[in-house]
Amino acid sequence: MKKFKRYLVTSALPYANGPLHIGHLAGAYIPSDIYTRYLRMRGEDVVSICGSDEHGVPITLKARNEGVTPKEIVDRYHSLNKKSFEDFGISFDIYSRTTNETHHKTASEFFQNLYNKGEFTEKFSEQYFDEEAGCFLADRYIMGTCPHCGNEGAYGDQCEKCGSSLNSSDLINPHSTVSGTTPVLRKTLHWYLPLDKYEDWLRKWILEDHKEWKANVYGQCKSWLDQGLQPRAVSRDLDWGVPVPLEKGKGKVLYVWFDAPIGYISATKELTPDWEKYWKDKDTKMVHFIGKDNIVFHCIIFPAMLKAEGSFILPENVPANEFLNLEGDKISTSRNYAVWIHEYLEDFPGKQDVLRYSLCASAPETKDNDFTWKEFQARNNNELVAILGNFVNRTLVLTNNYYKGQVPEPGEKNENDQNVLNEIARIRTNVETSLESFRFREGLKEAMNLARLGNKYLADAEPWIVIKTDPERVKTIMNIAVQITANLTIILEPFLPFSMEKLRGWINIDKRVWNDAGCHDLIKPGHIINKPGLLFEKISDEEIEKQMNKLLATKKKNEESGQKVVPAKDTISFDDFTKLDIRTATVLEAEKVPRTTKLLKLRIDTGLDTRTIVSGIAEYFEPKALIGKNISIVANLEPRKIRGIESQGMILMAEDKDGKLVLVTPAEKVNNGSVIK
Ligand code: 2FM
Ligand code: ZN
Repeated sequence: MKKFKRYLVTSALPYANGPLHIGHLAGAYIPSDIYTRYLRMRGEDVVSICGSDEHGVPITLKARNEGVTPKEIVDRYHSLNKKSFEDFGISFDIYSRTTNETHHKTASEFFQNLYNKGEFTEKFSEQYFDEEAGCFLADRYIMGTCPHCGNEGAYGDQCEKCGSSLNSSDLINPHSTVSGTTPVLRKTLHWYLPLDKYEDWLRKWILEDHKEWKANVYGQCKSWLDQGLQPRAVSRDLDWGVPVPLEKGKGKVLYVWFDAPIGYISATKELTPDWEKYWKDKDTKMVHFIGKDNIVFHCIIFPAMLKAEGSFILPENVPANEFLNLEGDKISTSRNYAVWIHEYLEDFPGKQDVLRYSLCASAPETKDNDFTWKEFQARNNNELVAILGNFVNRTLVLTNNYYKGQVPEPGEKNENDQNVLNEIARIRTNVETSLESFRFREGLKEAMNLARLGNKYLADAEPWIVIKTDPERVKTIMNIAVQITANLTIILEPFLPFSMEKLRGWINIDKRVWNDAGCHDLIKPGHIINKPGLLFEKISDEEIEKQMNKLLATKKKNEESGQKVVPAKDTISFDDFTKLDIRTATVLEAEKVPRTTKLLKLRIDTGLDTRTIVSGIAEYFEPKALIGKNISIVANLEPRKIRGIESQGMILMAEDKDGKLVLVTPAEKVNNGSVIK
């Protein structure tokens, strides 16, 4: 296996259009943080890069919905998300943003460079245009049915269900998300990256040279390559983004997925003047941590951009995770259905590691997975408290009780003692193998095996019983238990940094390097440890219920507001409006139209006359109940024959969300024939 001199770890730049949730953490940020912390402990030269993705339609859509500027949106969520990452212990070396100057300059130069080298195809093409909103419909401004998987909510650039990257012209039944109307096609000039030119090279680079990539990533790449790659526009007719740096590109910006990955380069530049060694030296190992909806961009499009540029390295691996669901439903920012990180930190202060643990233990590494609050509680109560916390607590309490906190000198070790101590190094190697192959669940399970080992050792050796008969033997037992504890602070550090810091404080040691793990005498006899606190506390049913109720309340709210709002009709002139004769009336008689289920024949007093109206409301009203009711009618509708009866007007009804019809009645009693205007 090639030995690299340094590591460049990138984590998907989250859109600054909403807060971070557990899906983000489980998908990209927890694995990337574990990996980076592990590499740092190994003494590797590593930089961990992230930042806010602040361009693109996700931002402008949110701004439009709130009636504020895109800048206000990105400022708000950049600060919130930066803080959430910090509070949660995600240890990026830099958390930058794509609206800053360095990034604009870097992305602009990248484009210009490819343009100068003739790497783009420049062409006029027909793009969807919303005539009502007066704008081109890029990316999330247009939705329709995905031609690959049939998802009706696919965006113009991507289907989030199957991960396909799309051109808006691929969508079946396209409609504008701005106005709801069906768009028309209009000519516009854009620049295209000819991905088809890179197909053979990508095929070899991924399918032959990177067979070690995760099956979900490799499989997705293979299926795209097998379908054949198409040229892809890298510019957009939008006013929010990095401007196209060409005279003829005035008023256009770079496609957000062109500029965002360049954000990794810009952020590295900001971090260190030495940035080129991370990006241009073949001895650097670049790893992209992302969620599955980002695979195509990181495995196909960005590498093609880097290849076209020519001076940059390519990723060695792209360990994308699948999606995390929440209590059986899709996590959704727009529907507010998520566990938000900033709220979790408020509800469970100081419990970052519990969520880190739970999300890593059930990370969607090979397939989508479900987060449930019950499982979170069980992971805490049955694993962190009952296994890790219990072992550490027993060890530290007994050492304090028996030896006033002074680590005892071990006596002669028996075979079991030796086996247990040797097991530590084996566990360390297993954790290394798992982390280096991006199997974080397995790595965590293996690391927890050290706590399991410690628990079993104490349970078998029973120092609390032996102390009465053979206190010398207990010194050996307790020394070994302390060594296991010290090793835990190394092996679990990448996963549970907050708790291991606490634990180091209690056993009174500084942070150790990874290579110390496996040592049998990390703590010397005579070393004084401190009084311990509780490493983890039980989480009660009430706390869990509270969280579940919060989600149920969101679901209920969404259901209530989920009624389909009928799209607004085309604008009419005032003159058109005045042509309508809408007025109040009273029902005089009502009866069913024979041999029909829906029709009622009504005699109406309109103030002008008495007339007959046939109305399709029999399912909703008993004829008798209508007599004497004040209603509203359109009085000048052209008469028409329904079942042989001439209907002279129309009764106004409001349709409820479940399709039920109710009469439109004046709020106060007015004379028949009062004009509604
Ligand atoms: O899916 C997303 O949230 C994107 N903002 C990820 C961008 S990753 C990168 F390329 F910057
Ligand atoms: Zn799809």
